[in-house]
Amino acid sequence: MAHQALWSGRFREPLSEIALNFSSSIDLDRLLYEEDIAGSIAHVEMLAAARILTAPEARRIRVALKGILKEIQTGKFALTPDVAEDVHMAIEQRLIQKIGPLGGKLHTGRSRNDQVALDERLFLRSAIREISKLLINLQRVLLYKAEKYFGAIMPGYTHLQRAQPVMLSHHLLAYVNMLERDFERMQDCARRLNKSPLGAAAFAGSSFPLDRALVARKLKFDGIVENSIDAVSDRDYLAEFIAAASILMMHLSRMAEEIVLWSSAEFGMAHISDAYTTGSSIMPQKKNPDMAELVRGKTGRVYGALMNLLTTMKGLPLAYNRDMQEDKLPMFEAVQTARQSLFMVAHLLVHTTFDRRRMEEELRTDFLTATDMADYLVRKGIPFREAHAITGSVVSYCVGHRMYFGNLDLETLRTFSPAFGPDIFEFILPQASVEQKQSAGSTAPHEVKKQIAHWSKVLAKRRV
Ligand code: ARG
Repeated sequence: MAHQALWSGRFREPLSEIALNFSSSIDLDRLLYEEDIAGSIAHVEMLAAARILTAPEARRIRVALKGILKEIQTGKFALTPDVAEDVHMAIEQRLIQKIGPLGGKLHTGRSRNDQVALDERLFLRSAIREISKLLINLQRVLLYKAEKYFGAIMPGYTHLQRAQPVMLSHHLLAYVNMLERDFERMQDCARRLNKSPLGAAAFAGSSFPLDRALVARKLKFDGIVENSIDAVSDRDYLAEFIAAASILMMHLSRMAEEIVLWSSAEFGMAHISDAYTTGSSIMPQKKNPDMAELVRGKTGRVYGALMNLLTTMKGLPLAYNRDMQEDKLPMFEAVQTARQSLFMVAHLLVHTTFDRRRMEEELRTDFLTATDMADYLVRKGIPFREAHAITGSVVSYCVGHRMYFGNLDLETLRTFSPAFGPDIFEFILPQASVEQKQSAGSTAPHEVKKQIAHWSKVLAKRRV
């Protein structure tokens, strides 16, 4: 429905309904109402401090804005397309409705251009805080599982082919490390975006003596975005956030992929509780890992959001262009997907058990300790390349005879190299393989224990 826009002064006809529907953004940007009102309150307080408004004027506006906040929260004032084209107009219009022409003074020295940039920075700041909490939570769940399954050994993979035995805890802690960098990226992003654009007005600044630093302090920013053109023109803070969220989603997606794989009958290494799996409408026996698949699937939304925003921005001349309104969908999509996925993966992991027995079985029926056999020969003085070749022939022999290392006797082994002694059998047990590791950060139990101790300390005292 058409409504009289607050900017309609120079127009002889109202905006056509078709154009209004096309350009309206309130269906999306209404999610910014809290930030918008917080920004308006800080702005009006500053206007009073700078004697641009009187104290009583500012007080009336502030009280009315708080009233509008309540009205929106309780559903008394609905932010719908028939009210205004965007959240900023809707709230300002409501203010004027409530207190009359005085409400029209709120927008002194301000433009929607700096207003929307402010709202987004405030929104992202709290979104990042929430995502950071969820990240820490997921790290704690992984750490808990790493402690719980300490001692379990699993086949490690490269190329999805069995490669070397590793401790399950080590594998889980790899994700803790990845998520730590996601956490750092989020903090970096929050630090850089925590500057106030307000006071840039349309882009050239204001002829009123605005105290930009005061507004920034009131809204707990670390300072202002200095250049007023920059302040309204760029969305790099958002691109940076979505980029960090994309990398985070890549990590979650890989974790999800492993849950899908490991819970298959072929792997059988993980079991998801019924409450986090779904059935099939036709195949009665099915128990599907849909939650993990959806995390993997939703990753595309965040990558899409990144491309969406970068593409929107890449050809825009300075300063503000209406194209930039299109940044809301990718922003909300990225925030919501990252939040939901972090939450889901943490729950999924809590409700997943790992099958030590199955992992041990798999270790016995393969050649995962072939590298250890080669290392053994190296210790007996054989150059690694040669040791590699000898061990390769042993593997080939076993494959030909349908057997594993465990079925070999010393006599047979000695036909490949006289360097083999009776201690080889101990040396190539999966348990020995992990215990023999000596390098820092390896899968050796004492190294993994060190990692667990490290993360316990770090995550116990972490707050955001
Ligand atoms: N809804 C607009 C947006 O999100 C607000 C800014 C509009 N500014 C303008 N000059 N038309 O970008």
